[in-house]
Amino acid sequence: MFDRIAPVYDAMNHAMSAGLDRRWRRLTAEAVVAPGDRVLDACCGTGDLALAAQAEGGKVTGLDFSDGMLERARSKSSEIEWTRGDLLRLPFEDAAFDAVTVGFGVRNVDDLDRALRELRRVLKPGGRLAILEIVRPHGPLALFYRAWFDGLVPLAGKVLPGGAAYSYLPASVRRFPGPAELTGRVRAAGFHPVAHRLLGGGIVVLLIGEAR
Ligand SMILES: C[S@@+](CC[C@H](N)C(=O)[O-])C[C@H]1O[C@@H](n2cnc3c(N)ncnc32)[C@H](O)[C@@H]1O
Repeated sequence: MFDRIAPVYDAMNHAMSAGLDRRWRRLTAEAVVAPGDRVLDACCGTGDLALAAQAEGGKVTGLDFSDGMLERARSKSSEIEWTRGDLLRLPFEDAAFDAVTVGFGVRNVDDLDRALRELRRVLKPGGRLAILEIVRPHGPLALFYRAWFDGLVPLAGKVLPGGAAYSYLPASVRRFPGPAELTGRVRAAGFHPVAHRLLGGGIVVLLIGEAR
């Protein structure tokens, strides 16, 4: 599915978020990356969050299991090390990184707790994890969001390559835990303290955890 949507992924991202996705990735990288850090961007897709981490001065490795996505990422930077691999079995030694970022990635894995434990394993003690993920908003945005996300996005998928992915998207967000449950599961994977903030009026969560 991710190979199929790779050609339109960046354009759809910017369109669906009204361009806010660039700011969200910048805030994510700023929150955990310091100059000189070894950084893993897991589920890097077409590479924009890895590029944001590099802009903060990190020495970045981007990992994804989709060749189609990685091909696009490679065309954006030859300095970042792009690696094909599975988040559930990261091909890195324990404590290899100072910081890990995951943008719109953890929602897709079959076993969230295992993914979080893998992310903890490759971080040094005191290392920082940033998860950027879509959540369902409460309050005034909820109605608009339902029309947009459950109506328009799947409709767009009917006319774009990789169409099924866009009905998968709202379904995967529905299944994914909200910020409070996610915070608990990140803690249980070995992070403390864990804090989160909502972005985009509550449609996106940025969660930061420190490896114990
Ligand atoms: C929605 S995209 C996000 C891409 C990018 N991080 C961003 O900020 O736009 C999700 C990415 O996660 C990758 N992915 C999903 N499950 C994965 C897994 N188990 N291991 C590695 N990559 C995975 C997909 O191939 C896809 O490129």
